[in-house]
Amino acid sequence: MKNSSVYDCHILQLNKIHNQAGNITIVQGEQNIPFNLRRVYYLYDIPSGGSRGGHAHKELFQLIVAASGSFEVLLDDGVNKKIVRLNRPNFGLLVVPGIWRELFEFSSGAICLVLASHTYEESDYLRDYEYFFKFKNEIIQ
Ligand code: TYD
Repeated sequence: MKNSSVYDCHILQLNKIHNQAGNITIVQGEQNIPFNLRRVYYLYDIPSGGSRGGHAHKELFQLIVAASGSFEVLLDDGVNKKIVRLNRPNFGLLVVPGIWRELFEFSSGAICLVLASHTYEESDYLRDYEYFFKFKNEIIQ
């Protein structure tokens, strides 16, 4: 997690079965994503101009999907930053451990679906950016 980079995070195309009745995308166990799926949660009713995230994880892998609407994700590894826009339900952003993320520019009615590799543990979070920055840049161990 100390050496992870924003370049380890990338868009993953999920399957899509299309017919006249609409589309369906399936994520099953770890067949479609590069980690064991242990938890699903979703963000919704996000107020206009609101932002989420503002933390990194020590062990957690996540796939972030715009299940409805759109939003942007800022990724930061303490050296490099990149912004990814999500707006298609069959594309997810893989976020590896050790990456600071902020989610913003939510469209009205956006739903942010998150597939996660572990159950919720507050001890897995790094919520202080200064600490995160120093840790990634080996200013502190
Ligand atoms: P947090 O992960 O900080 O939200 P976000 O990154 O979307 O801004 O979580 C917000 C609150 O919800 C925080 O009090 C912890 C709680 N929470 C759980 O209890 N379980 C979970 O699986 C998640 C993701 C959050």
